Amino acid sequence: MKDTQQKHLWWQEGVIYQIYPRSYQDSDGDGVGDLQGIIHRLDHIQSLGIKAIWISPIFSSPMADFGYDISDYCGIHPLFGTMDDFDELLQAVHDRGMKLILDLVPNHTSDEHPWFKESRSSKDNPKRDWYIWKDANEDGSEPNNWLSVFGGSAWEWDEHTGQYYYHAFLKEQPDLNWRNPEVQEAMMDVMRFWLDKGVDGFRVDVMWHMIKDDQLRDNPVNPNYKAHQATYEKLIPAYSTDQPEVHDIVHKMRKVLDGYDERMMIGEIYLPIHKLMTYYGTDKNGAHLPFNFLLLSIDWDATEISSNINQYEGALPDGGWPNWVLGNHDQPRITSRVGKAQARVAAMLLLTLRGTPTIYYGDEIGMRDVPIPPDEVQDPQGLNMPGLNLSRDPQRTPMQWDNSENAGFSKSKPWLRLPEDYRRVNVKAQLEDEFSIYALYKRLIKLRQDEPALHVGDYRPVVASGPLLAYLRYTPDERFLILLNLSHKPCHFAPEHFNFEGTIVIDTLPEREGGTVSKHVSLSGDEGMIIRLKQS
Ligand code: NOJ
Ligand code: MG
Repeated sequence: MKDTQQKHLWWQEGVIYQIYPRSYQDSDGDGVGDLQGIIHRLDHIQSLGIKAIWISPIFSSPMADFGYDISDYCGIHPLFGTMDDFDELLQAVHDRGMKLILDLVPNHTSDEHPWFKESRSSKDNPKRDWYIWKDANEDGSEPNNWLSVFGGSAWEWDEHTGQYYYHAFLKEQPDLNWRNPEVQEAMMDVMRFWLDKGVDGFRVDVMWHMIKDDQLRDNPVNPNYKAHQATYEKLIPAYSTDQPEVHDIVHKMRKVLDGYDERMMIGEIYLPIHKLMTYYGTDKNGAHLPFNFLLLSIDWDATEISSNINQYEGALPDGGWPNWVLGNHDQPRITSRVGKAQARVAAMLLLTLRGTPTIYYGDEIGMRDVPIPPDEVQDPQGLNMPGLNLSRDPQRTPMQWDNSENAGFSKSKPWLRLPEDYRRVNVKAQLEDEFSIYALYKRLIKLRQDEPALHVGDYRPVVASGPLLAYLRYTPDERFLILLNLSHKPCHFAPEHFNFEGTIVIDTLPEREGGTVSKHVSLSGDEGMIIRLKQS
């Protein structure tokens, strides 16, 4: 964990910001966000102190899964604009000293991708083996018991050629066969296409799905399945995901990136800590940042979080760089999970932990999940499994910019509705309010960027009790003590074996900033503070 002496790269020192492009800013009045819209809002992102922007897919797509079903990896969907718009965006991002990360979706294509159209045209088509085709069992049933994440069987019958194909997600998203070297090479070409343009990195979609068991064995039954869960949870995806050979593929992708200067790869991986760590690769030749989704899944409880941070820190391979996430386009928003007051504490946690933070757009103004009436649901996950409350629309609603019609997002009716309170909860209102969550985010990012102890310093847990989460971030020159009250009730920090003295630099109650504290300190409910310790 002695990382402070090394040279650090932009993706280690900086903060990443995720944009869901359909919902950031519409520039052409069709109610859907687009690339020109993002260009128009770069001031907001830059003034927040962001280093890198990750944009969810903007490529040619029939939009069965809102862009995660790609029909041309090197084309821009007209909804979002043109390749000229993309080039303009990339240039504008770079001109501001920021970086641009694209979403790469290598596990599956759209069923309208020319590769799949060829593949399904006949059994002896040269691209047949680019996807996962299998005969029916003798009784006509599916080749094995694998389930689709979006509900139902993962096998779709193709009448024309008389075989099944595998799709981990929608039937409109057939899985590529990554055991085929031609597939590998085709996707590496896609990477090179964007890297040659100057794109700074990729967030790789469902990295742990990319290779499946070569014998396609049945997945075991999950004994802990509960009726309120998605049907996918009925089985343990032991054979359909996280196969050992996936690391060879990740390594090959890494080699492509290493042919360029300071490019990077984030892996989307939902796995337990010890499995997640394997995606750093042996000798760190895998993903630069396997996404760490711990804070999305564990209880909002100080002991639980502290122990998970310790497990994560302890499991990191030598030199493996940590990272933290509070939300994304697939998960309920942090403000909806922990509430408005705790969302401020969560921001302080995200921005003071060791490792690269990724902020989901809108979280910087405390946007909440927006209730979407059943007849307005768009997300296939929600539509396919009605009643399970699995739609991801609520966390994908338009960015709330100001109090004008449609929140300044679009001149027309947005593709997803806005919340009733957007005239109060928006960027413009919060810019004028020094106590807003936006103001807090901005100051936390600035402090993090100004202080090596916070962006590259070491981490050490501090023993605390009850709802209090406490830790140190430090370099040889500077030490910060972070105290986070994860409850609504007041609490007291009076460590037995730790004598501290310092000044509060940022507090969720800004009235306390500048105050000195020593030996013990009381915190209000929902209060978090960063204390600069006096060097002894
Ligand atoms: C993960 C993406 O984040 C999600 O939005 C998408 O539906 C699936 N992968 C399938 O691509
Ligand atoms: Mg538009």
